[in-house]
Amino acid sequence: MNKKYRRVIIAGNWKENMLPSQVHDFCEALRKEMPESANGSSVVLCVPATHLAALAKEKSRRLAVGAQNISEFDKGAHTGEISADMIADLGAKYCIVGHSERRASNGDTDELVNAKIRALLERGINPILCVGESLDQRDRDLTMEFIAYQVKAALYGLTPEQVKKVVIAYEPIWAIGTGRTATNEQAQEVCFGIRELLRRQYGALISRKVCILYGGSMNAKNCAGLLAQPDIDGGLIGGASLKAADFGVIVREGSK
Ligand code: 13P
Repeated sequence: MNKKYRRVIIAGNWKENMLPSQVHDFCEALRKEMPESANGSSVVLCVPATHLAALAKEKSRRLAVGAQNISEFDKGAHTGEISADMIADLGAKYCIVGHSERRASNGDTDELVNAKIRALLERGINPILCVGESLDQRDRDLTMEFIAYQVKAALYGLTPEQVKKVVIAYEPIWAIGTGRTATNEQAQEVCFGIRELLRRQYGALISRKVCILYGGSMNAKNCAGLLAQPDIDGGLIGGASLKAADFGVIVREGSK
């Protein structure tokens, strides 16, 4: 799965699942599934904030700590919020931003997504920016326009050097948690489109370096075809990241 210019990232998104007390056993089981050689690939678990401290104890060269959301504020009177600084202090190297579930239910607008990305980059955390169209938008042939808008709005005002640190996850909304995966061709087409957009905006050197993941019902069975696509540099995996054996299959595929 050598992408030449980019490392492969296999990231699990636990969403609102599992308990902090289950993190250790899960990581033990996952370690057994890890291949001999990572072959330059990285594995990340994006866990609820309550699980970060437990995950930090498990982190290694092979397993990075990821979060699922932060506040756009540095600190202060924002009851219930968690800052980029706080997750950095717990060892987070990645954080999901703009997941469609948060855009739909938690008021994450494009402006907010942009502010959160800036806050993460300032603390040295790699944002995993999620973008993706609805089924209605796909049916009306608006997919690429919508994705381009989301990507541009999220990256607004960033320097090319900062853009290089952003991981972009293409997650068609209709494929999330539905068992209905995008075909290899559909996923590749959009990931290629994102890279083309980055090339036009920031130049070939930058666009070649940005990791673009696919997410949406990726599992042990369909991961090989998706990960073999030239512009897909890994996966953001929901349901299948909750079982170490299933996630292990994807991790091993990513390290081939
Ligand atoms: P599923 O893999 O469960 O479809 O979830 C994908 C996702 O939303 C990852 O962020």
